[in-house]
Amino acid sequence: MPHFLDIHKTDKSDLRQIIDTARAMKDSRNGRPKAAPDDDRPLAGHMVALIFEKPSTRTRVSFDVGVRQMGGETMVLSGADMQLGHGETIADTARVLSRYVDLIMIRTFEEATLLEMAEHADVPVINGLTNRTHPCQIMADVMTYEEHRGPIAGKKVVWSGDGNNVFASFAHAATQFEFDLVFTGPEPLDPEPALHDRITIERDPMKAVEGADLVVTDTWVSMHDPQSAKERRHNQLRGYQVNARLMAQARPDALFMHCLPAHREDEVTSEIMDGPHSVIWDEAENRLHAQKAIMRHALAR
Ligand code: CP
Ligand code: NVA
Repeated sequence: MPHFLDIHKTDKSDLRQIIDTARAMKDSRNGRPKAAPDDDRPLAGHMVALIFEKPSTRTRVSFDVGVRQMGGETMVLSGADMQLGHGETIADTARVLSRYVDLIMIRTFEEATLLEMAEHADVPVINGLTNRTHPCQIMADVMTYEEHRGPIAGKKVVWSGDGNNVFASFAHAATQFEFDLVFTGPEPLDPEPALHDRITIERDPMKAVEGADLVVTDTWVSMHDPQSAKERRHNQLRGYQVNARLMAQARPDALFMHCLPAHREDEVTSEIMDGPHSVIWDEAENRLHAQKAIMRHALAR
């Protein structure tokens, strides 16, 4: 089954094809109104289930709009409102949904939930974020980098902050798209050890960012982190804020990305978010195009 579960689980050539398709699909819309369908409608007659066990703005709206542009229909489901939230197993939910819909996107907590859904579904399953990874986001990020600066291969990408789920997908992408990834953050918030052979760790943020082509950060407290950890995390991460002083270490033409939602003046200053290095709005837009290409790829096989 052509699921899209993680970047390291998808062939390099398929990943490249998805990025190229996303670019072509974006170009072909050529400024038409948001709800206007694409010229070709590969999802015509298809129904897509979008399951959310966590909040979302970008993922929810970009998948929903993307499916409609491709001629399909969506059903947005909250995990808590489904029998899933009342004891029905993931496997049984997957078997049932496969009888009604052509594709499932799920945002959930445990990676095991996503994997169980994929194992028992007869239709493609797409990872819309788990506690562990966020592959759709990083496909949009690679697309955005290349749109502005050309091939990402061989470039220096620096992540400053928490070694979280979004970082993990960046680490998977570093191997697949062949760029250098440096992590800078406090040791207690290091990425999981399995990722260490894909990355370089540099504790000093000023040193880490030297010569960077792309600087990235994310929220200091993720949806799966307990709110009680907020103050401790803020103290640990304060020195890793992306601000003008840090950004000055990067190449003059370096880009800044953040998957959003952002907490202005915590992990990044407004000066950087709204400044000339920032491509965050293109990055958010490209969620739409990248995911359309991912869905197209999944359904074409
Ligand atoms: N970046 C991202 O996935 O945003 P949402 O949580 O709003 O979907
Ligand atoms: N790391 C963040 C990403 C949100 C899109 C979270 O998991 O909450």
